[in-house]
Amino acid sequence: MRATSPPKTYRVKSFGCQMNVYDGERMAELLADRGIVPAPEGEDADLVVLNTCHIREKAAEKVYSDIGRLRKADGSKPLIAVAGCVAQAEGEEIMARAPSVSMVVGPQAYHRLPEMLDKAVAGERTTDTDMPPIAKFDALPARRRAAPSAFLTVQEGCDKFCTYCVVPYTRGAEISRPFADLLAEAERLVAGGAREITLLGQNVNAWTGEDHKGRAIGLDGLIRELATLPDLARIRYTTSHPMDVTDGLIAAHGEIDKLMPFLHLPVQSGSDPILKAMNRSHDADGYLRLLERFRAARPDIALSGDFIVGFPGESEADFEATMQLVDAVGYAQAFSFKYSPRPGTPAATMADQVAPEVMDERLQRLQAALNRDQMAFNQASVGKTCPVLVERKGKKPGQLLGKSPWLQSVWFDSDVSIGEIVEVELAEAGPNSMAGRVRASATT
Ligand code: 5AD
Ligand code: SF4
Repeated sequence: MRATSPPKTYRVKSFGCQMNVYDGERMAELLADRGIVPAPEGEDADLVVLNTCHIREKAAEKVYSDIGRLRKADGSKPLIAVAGCVAQAEGEEIMARAPSVSMVVGPQAYHRLPEMLDKAVAGERTTDTDMPPIAKFDALPARRRAAPSAFLTVQEGCDKFCTYCVVPYTRGAEISRPFADLLAEAERLVAGGAREITLLGQNVNAWTGEDHKGRAIGLDGLIRELATLPDLARIRYTTSHPMDVTDGLIAAHGEIDKLMPFLHLPVQSGSDPILKAMNRSHDADGYLRLLERFRAARPDIALSGDFIVGFPGESEADFEATMQLVDAVGYAQAFSFKYSPRPGTPAATMADQVAPEVMDERLQRLQAALNRDQMAFNQASVGKTCPVLVERKGKKPGQLLGKSPWLQSVWFDSDVSIGEIVEVELAEAGPNSMAGRVRASATT
């Protein structure tokens, strides 16, 4: 590879989960510290970071086609870095197959991006897919700016080894970031403008740490501490695993006003034999009982989940059990996916892989039920007045977009500023958002 001049502009393209969004923001901060600025919308960037996801589909193939398409207006290639979980899983192969890529950096190594960039400018190609547990966070610069709703990664990795999932291999073992570091980063985010913080982790409720006094605490303890930050108005967390739900976390939903009434608790299937084959460590009934306990602590809690249809061996009866579970819960929103065999995972080589057309048909039925329930949830909210955190401008002049406590997107006309929290009456329900009317400014 030839030496090039140092990049002046960058673009980070993040795919997949919110952890990737967080990582993408942090990579952008590293580049900004180098004096590299974001490329204006619609203009070429000198450096492109593809922050990839490996969880489903032919993600790797998509990366190669994205790399192939990246070209500046003058026909030259930008400097290209491939980051994220595809980088972790297929680093060497990317280097071999895509000569225009000069940096491959895994999710635990991206703090080294600036050094890799220096080498790339000198014409050297580098791969870094090391997985040191906590070094990345220590090496990242302090945060300065934050959106009204900001992400904070508190936990990474997964030890659960669900048989379909690639995360334990790409993100590594479960680690919790130390309490003091999280408090410091949260304070910085709030100082930088955040009113809401969403605590992130592949298994966020597996977070453990020690508070200032050396006492062992779990996620609920962390939430309690963060709730004492005066200018922080809202706290959320995602994604939780049923196995790591504690009494304290359930109780926190009844006790901490700043903890929003929303729970994303994936179940994946409503069939016990499938849950067993998935190595999920819970059955359908146990999951439903957990949700009941959350509802008892916080009756208005909005529930969300993840589903996989067409896991190997899933019969019509298994799928029906999933539909029954959906009916029993009444989700406010949910994500549903067709099973996608991931190389290296146990399920990829299981017998009885389900035919694609059967998966398509089941996914359609499931999504119709989930959409129906989401609409019903939104309709049931009509007439309520609630605080809405204003996150950005809408498409029309004077229009703003924010989030209700139940994570619904709410559109309304107002001249309040981004980052304010206003009382809004939810006036009309749509499938994916609500139209609202401002009542009065609130300060909470
Ligand atoms: N195929 C389909 N969906 C998957 N998920 C994880 N792995 C796979 C896979 N191999 C889904 C699960 C998980 C969400 C993040 O992605 O539902 O909760
Ligand atoms: Fe993947 Fe299961 Fe871990 Fe979630 S809990 S990241 S689905 S292995």
